[in-house]
Amino acid sequence: MSGSAITPWVVGNWKMNPMQADAQKLIQELKQRLADQHISKERCRIGIAPISIALLSVQQQLADASVEVMTVAQDVSRIAGTGAYTGEVSANLLKDSQIDYVLIGHSERREIFADNAQVVAEKVKNALAAGLHIIYCVGESLEQREKGQAEVVVLQQICDIAAVVNADQWHNITVAYEPIWAIGTGKTASPEDAQNMHAKIREGLSQITPAGARMAILYGGSVKPENAVELAACPDINGALVGGASLNAESFYQIAHAFAQTK
Ligand code: PGA
Repeated sequence: MSGSAITPWVVGNWKMNPMQADAQKLIQELKQRLADQHISKERCRIGIAPISIALLSVQQQLADASVEVMTVAQDVSRIAGTGAYTGEVSANLLKDSQIDYVLIGHSERREIFADNAQVVAEKVKNALAAGLHIIYCVGESLEQREKGQAEVVVLQQICDIAAVVNADQWHNITVAYEPIWAIGTGKTASPEDAQNMHAKIREGLSQITPAGARMAILYGGSVKPENAVELAACPDINGALVGGASLNAESFYQIAHAFAQTK
């Protein structure tokens, strides 16, 4: 099933970057670029995921952008509500601060911070209950790909959350396929390999929910202006989760532009 009529999303994952002054400059440059050459939200939804302490200031700075730019949290606590959980930020607290979007299951969280399937499912459950929209990240390691397990691993990661998502909550989820071997390495999955995996993900989602046919499935892993046009041309690649290239306003703009043009 082709997802080409789906509005693409291009989200910049700033990870643990940059310093405050650079963040402000980056936002100003992005706003200027969007003002010079508009990208309507119908053609491409644009988002930025800054470090948690910058969420509110970034949101404030983006408030007068010429087009809506979503402010996205990079993670959320697996614990809901409020309470004695030092260092944690719950989905309810994000929502209370008008942060409506969150990344969950990024491979860096899974690998470095031990976010296993159970933790990820708890985060998804709480985020949905709080009314957040989730960008749910999945992806296989190089070893898993070389062993021919990529598809099984990725589909299992989708299944890991299926039990905690109610039938009417799937439209609050966007999936990001990020092969771990392509993240920050300069290696991108070929458009063909990425499209194949995206088609499998859509097939898997469609078996779980009728919403699967309409869900945006983003690609992530060394997306840059040079490969964005080709990726955007693939029917089941409905946007990008962009790390390194999102730290440059012009590169990030060009990626969003590529998706806005092709869809
Ligand atoms: P990258 O990161 O674009 O730097 O490869 C993507 C991501 O981890 O979301």
